[in-house]
Parts: sequence; C-alpha cells; structure tokens
Amino acid sequence: MADVTLKDVTADNWEDVADLEVTDEQDDFLDDNAFSIAESKFNPYARPRAIYAGKRLVGFLMYETLEEEDRPNEVMIYRFMIDRHQQGKGYGRAAFGKAIDEIRKMPNIRKIQVCYKPENVAAKSLYAGFGFREVGRDEDGETIAELSLR
Ligand SMILES: CC(C)(COP(=O)(O)OP(=O)(O)OC[C@H]1O[C@@H](n2cnc3c(N)ncnc32)[C@H](O)[C@@H]1OP(=O)(O)O)[C@@H](O)C(=O)NCCC(=O)NCCS
Repeated sequence: MADVTLKDVTADNWEDVADLEVTDEQDDFLDDNAFSIAESKFNPYARPRAIYAGKRLVGFLMYETLEEEDRPNEVMIYRFMIDRHQQGKGYGRAAFGKAIDEIRKMPNIRKIQVCYKPENVAAKSLYAGFGFREVGRDEDGETIAELSLR
C-alpha cells in the first residue's frame, strides 16, 4: 500500500479536496468538504487535513480542540472521509492512525472524541479497532466515542 500521509489544505489542493466524494449512501454521514474548508476559515481551533496515498489525494479529515466548550484538553475528530473510488484499500485506517499520532504530539491533550451516525457501521468498526469506546449520544443523536491518551 502507498504510504499514507496527512498534509495541510492549501491554495494548491483545496479545490481537489472539495471535489472528493463519498457514495450516495454515505452522503448523510458528513458535510461536504467545501463546507468543512469554509468552516475551518472561521473556527480558529479547526485543523483540516488532506489525506494522501503516495502522491494521490484520497481523502480529508478535520479535528479541533474543544476550547469553545471549555475542554481544551480534548480533541474531536468530526470530519473524516475517503473518496468513494479509494475506499476499502486500507487508506482510512492508515489515515486515522496518522491523525491520532499527530494529536498525541499536541501538548496536554488527554482525550480524543469521534462522533458518527449509529447506522454507520464502517466508521463504528474502524474507530472501535483503535480502542474508542462509546460514551453516549450528542444532541443530533450521533454516537460519541472516545479514546483516553493517558
Ligand atoms: C469510514 C471510511 C473513512 C473508511 O475508509 P476506508 O479507506 O474505506 O477504510 P479501510 O479500507 O481503511 O478499512 C478500515 C476498517 O474500516 C471498517 N470498514 C470499512 N469499510 C467498511 C464497510 N463497508 N463495512 C463495514 N466496515 C467497514 C472495517 O473495520 C475496516 O477494517 P477491516 O478491513 O479490517 O474489516 C469510509 O468508509 C468513508 O469515507 N465513509 C463515508 C464517510 C464517513 O462515514 N465518515 C465517518 C463519519 S464522519
């Protein structure tokens, strides 16, 4: 498998990131990447990341420290997708592992949270594989799962 890396979303790649798509069945699972990129321009805590397999752009994820909720020691990964044509090749798992590695290097972060629709079995099983435990639901009925870092 090509080496999976996370890179910044920049003037050079943002349009390609915005063009990435999930399948029609997955459309309800997250906002469009164009929306997420716009959001990241107004949320100073959001960190948008482009996912590459070798030189090929294959996906996108975004996380933020929960400063606005007075939980500065926690990070929420709240957008995560692999393009429909690149799914099922191990890129999602590899990219998610890289995101966790990145977050572990941030100072004073004790916990990572994810959220997903209860019917999203792919996300649920991927996160469970990294040791995330379900802790409840958010106001939209999405499942919240978390991983303690220490
Ligand atoms: C979730 C997602 C990112 C996984 O990416 P991917 O590159 O296809 O995943 P991988 O090939 O790395 O597979 C990793 C694990 O994910 C799970 N998984 C992936 N596709 C799955 C499917 N169709 N059904 C069940 N589990 C699945 C499995 O646990 C798999 O491990 P395994 O192959 O050992 O069984 C991708 O399906 C996606 O973009 N989905 C739409 C967006 C979304 O739901 N995002 C999460 C909520 S914001």
